[in-house]
Amino acid sequence: MDKYVVRGGKPLFGDITISGAKNAVVAIIPAAILAEGVCRIENVPLVSDVLTELEILRELGVRADVVAPGVVEIDASRLHTHRAVSELNQKFRASYYLLGAFLSKFGKAEVSMPGGCNFGGARPIDQHIKGFEALGAEVFVEDGIIKAYTPNGKQGAHVYFDGVTVGGTVNVMLAAVLTPGLTVLENAAREPHIVDLANFLNYMGAEIMGAGTDIIRIKGVSKLHGCTYSIIPDQIEAGTFLAAAAAAGGSVTVRNVTPKHLEATLKALQDAGALITEGDDYVTLSRAGRILPTNIKASPYPGFPTDMQPQLAAVLTLADGVSVITDDVWDTRFKYAEHLERMGAQISVQPRQAVITGVSSLQGAEMSACDLRAGAAMVIAALAARGESVITNIHYVERGYENIIQKLRQVGADIELVSE
Ligand code: EPU
Repeated sequence: MDKYVVRGGKPLFGDITISGAKNAVVAIIPAAILAEGVCRIENVPLVSDVLTELEILRELGVRADVVAPGVVEIDASRLHTHRAVSELNQKFRASYYLLGAFLSKFGKAEVSMPGGCNFGGARPIDQHIKGFEALGAEVFVEDGIIKAYTPNGKQGAHVYFDGVTVGGTVNVMLAAVLTPGLTVLENAAREPHIVDLANFLNYMGAEIMGAGTDIIRIKGVSKLHGCTYSIIPDQIEAGTFLAAAAAAGGSVTVRNVTPKHLEATLKALQDAGALITEGDDYVTLSRAGRILPTNIKASPYPGFPTDMQPQLAAVLTLADGVSVITDDVWDTRFKYAEHLERMGAQISVQPRQAVITGVSSLQGAEMSACDLRAGAAMVIAALAARGESVITNIHYVERGYENIIQKLRQVGADIELVSE
């Protein structure tokens, strides 16, 4: 079993180059199977989630190769199945994007029901299904497999999402892109990775307008071609390293970022006492004084990202007062609290909220990553703590952070991966 061993208490100084956005690429890879030609995708973070997704495509007969560092080629010309039900699909949540992609390409889809999740419970997909049905699909679940057919063909439609959903927006956008007529998605997610997916599809010949606003218009086209495309920088990875510098102190510059995508995170870090300077494609965070208590409310983009909420909680465990973190997206995403408490943090978890009473220092402890961002929060707390911490279950962290150990060591962190 692999674990991270962190000897904390040292400020961080230096530069880190940020990888491509994991949540963009896990939507763009299934989108690539819609092309009648080869898609070359660059700036791909080769994290385990991405490698699993490529493996799923290979199981289906798609050529899905890493042809150079950070470069993936996908050629789905030999894809003749609308069925993805292997064990890998059951384990990997984002494989449900194949539902939308298969519906678009073949007018039918059978994909394993996505598993639950460590913080979101059952994680419903009713809004994805609502969208597919609006386009003409009949959708039902049989033996743990979601089946969608379009016996009367598919047709563009108006879809109003009852709540903002990233996955629902992605899936229905994929389903609509090769569906005749106009599809209008209302109350759509506005995350940068939604825009990235729309840009990628448009490079392939799709006609998608309005991505980045809450109304997305998709004019169905009859075919899509291959293209070369570069994934946007990962704003959550960037925010995580900035949060590490805010917690441990020092001065860290993240490079290859889009500062605009980081706005809400930077505002929260500033409120917590960090000094921020930014350029076109970099952000520098310095923190020398005390961490200030800050209230944060996670909500869909452009709000503060839920995927940064645990990392900010780690920072605020050391604040000079009481902070309240509210998560309106995932109301039970606070499992990290009990692990940080082992380090001396004081966190009271309430429905939708964590109330954090800052302490003057944390002590190293043994912790177990319970999901991707919770694991990142534990790494941050361990970097700021006195003494040695051991973090197990790090496969969660490796799902979404490319070369996290090397990147942190580059800014002076004493962290190593120990394999047993
Ligand atoms: N929801 C429904 N019905 C649906 C879909 C969603 O009620 O049909 C609810 C969810 O239960 C949740 C809220 O809507 O309360 C938002 O869910 P959303 O669909 O936006 O989340 P997701 O697509 O499953 C993606 C990211 C998550 C990130 C969320 C929110 C990917 C692969 N995953 O999940 O990322 O937390 O959006 O921004 O893009 C992470 O990277 O650590 C991560 C968990």
